[in-house]
Amino acid sequence: MLELCDVQSGYGETQVLYGMSIKAGPGRVLAILGRNGAGKSTTLKTIMGLLPTKEGSMTFDGKPIPRRPYDIARAGIAYVPETRDIFPSLTVRENLEIASKRFPGGDDGWTMHRVLELFPRLGERMDNGGMQLSGGEQQMLAIARALLMNPRLLILDEPTEGLAPIIVKLIHDKLQDLRTAGLSMVLVEQNFGFATSLADDVVIVSKGQVVWTGTPDAIRADTEAQHRWLGV
Ligand SMILES: Nc1ncnc2c1ncn2[C@@H]1O[C@H](COP(=O)(O)OP(=O)(O)OP(=O)(O)O)[C@@H](O)[C@H]1O
Ligand SMILES: [Mg+2]
Repeated sequence: MLELCDVQSGYGETQVLYGMSIKAGPGRVLAILGRNGAGKSTTLKTIMGLLPTKEGSMTFDGKPIPRRPYDIARAGIAYVPETRDIFPSLTVRENLEIASKRFPGGDDGWTMHRVLELFPRLGERMDNGGMQLSGGEQQMLAIARALLMNPRLLILDEPTEGLAPIIVKLIHDKLQDLRTAGLSMVLVEQNFGFATSLADDVVIVSKGQVVWTGTPDAIRADTEAQHRWLGV
């Protein structure tokens, strides 16, 4: 479904990715793990057209990933960045409407009604401004907004960062529901337990390259790799 092959990328003169190669399969969840500064967010930003690639190829369903954010969304890839990027001066309703109007799904697509069923809490906050939301509510809104774009692949950058354990659990359960429903996901996470319990496939990134590939069970059992690459 999504394939990066030997991608080199970075920020201006600063190269960060040195031959990043990953594959995410349909209906599967790929977790990307790695220490701070390993290049996880840079990988996602490169996929999403926010950073130029210097070398390598990136395809989605065998076709080159478009380079403009709007075209990437149209191709079926939605992204929830680390910063969540909701519109703080708009209400929850307005934040959601922007996405639902631009990317209407088919009969079985995501609607306002369906995302509010998934996150009832947002329904109670519809007329609140984005700025008034808690961190957890902002994350729910960011995910809901991404779903309203009716993606075939959902990419999430550290969805649990800074959230209270009870909210982490809630987000976990909702992502598990999406996984069960067959949504493909790429999940960048520092939270090892969260990531490995949701993932079908795991890669570990270090210094802009994949250094370990396997299943959640394999990485749970491989304490040496955990210690070496994750500092666990
Ligand atoms: N805007 C930027 N300009 C220059 N260098 C950057 C920029 N953003 C990140 N970097 C550098 O790129 C490297 C990889 O950063 P990246 O954000 O991809 O790490 P990460 O794996 O997502 O880490 P974290 O777990 O802390 O989010 C780091 O050395 C970082 O300092
Ligand atoms: Mg990051």
